[in-house]
Amino acid sequence: PRVAVLMGGPSAERQVSLVSGRACAAALREAGYEVTEVDAGPDLARVLSDLKPDAAFNALHGRWGEDGCVQGLLEWLRIPYTHSGVLASALAMDKARAKDAFVAAGLPVVESRLAAASDVRSRHVLPPPYVVKPNNEGSSVGVYLVMDAGDAPPQLAPDMPETVMVETYAPGRELTVTVMGDRPLCVTDIVTTGWYDYDAKYTPGGSHHVVPADLPAEITAACLDHALRAHRALGCRGISRTDFRWDEARGLAGLILLETNTQPGMTPTSLSPEQAAHCGIPFPELCAWIVEDASC
Ligand code: DAL
Ligand code: MG
Repeated sequence: PRVAVLMGGPSAERQVSLVSGRACAAALREAGYEVTEVDAGPDLARVLSDLKPDAAFNALHGRWGEDGCVQGLLEWLRIPYTHSGVLASALAMDKARAKDAFVAAGLPVVESRLAAASDVRSRHVLPPPYVVKPNNEGSSVGVYLVMDAGDAPPQLAPDMPETVMVETYAPGRELTVTVMGDRPLCVTDIVTTGWYDYDAKYTPGGSHHVVPADLPAEITAACLDHALRAHRALGCRGISRTDFRWDEARGLAGLILLETNTQPGMTPTSLSPEQAAHCGIPFPELCAWIVEDASC
């Protein structure tokens, strides 16, 4: 089969996507597929119409690639594509609406609200500690942390969206679970010396992953259960990765669902390939499974 691996694109996560895409392209070649690497530019519709691949492997992250836009184009072109469809992608990428879906499903989230960036710059819209983030970005791009009531309100960069999400800071350990179809794989505990920001995510050695995480059985079970329920609540397809914080001191009540990523990173420092490997699924096999799951 002929597979077009879509990567790059114009989002803030372009560089991450190029690394994910190249890794997936190499793995798919190893698994026996004929692969074309496509840097998703403004001519994407024409490029795909000419290529007519049997499937598009979506290795895009962030806006336009993870939010339903490219999925809509692929539906229009009748090209089977990997990962979540239009609605689940759009829903997951809108952090506020995704949260509504999680709450409706009975999943634990922290208090948050959408606020005008100008308000956020001028006053504390929630009692500190809180986090400010774009409502629709990934990889910790544009995330601000306000720890103390004595701190000045965050001076958001001019390129932040007009409306941002302000969320009560959830302390604790950073845990994550990949779901592959109907199966939550395992829990990883991400250990960093500071904030798990963009650099910690993509610099080799920037964070240390304990897989499987060393946790009480009930926390492991809750993470696996919540990740699968989150995947289903949003209507995800293929693989997704759900991120958590766990405040050990509060036991099960300290477990908070942060978000579900419908296009989890596939770079050499990313979490999902590592979890799959831990479950006995080598990277080429994971990528092949994702392609075989493609539809439109
Ligand atoms: N947004 C990045 C790619 C992730 O969730 O892995
Ligand atoms: Mg994310």
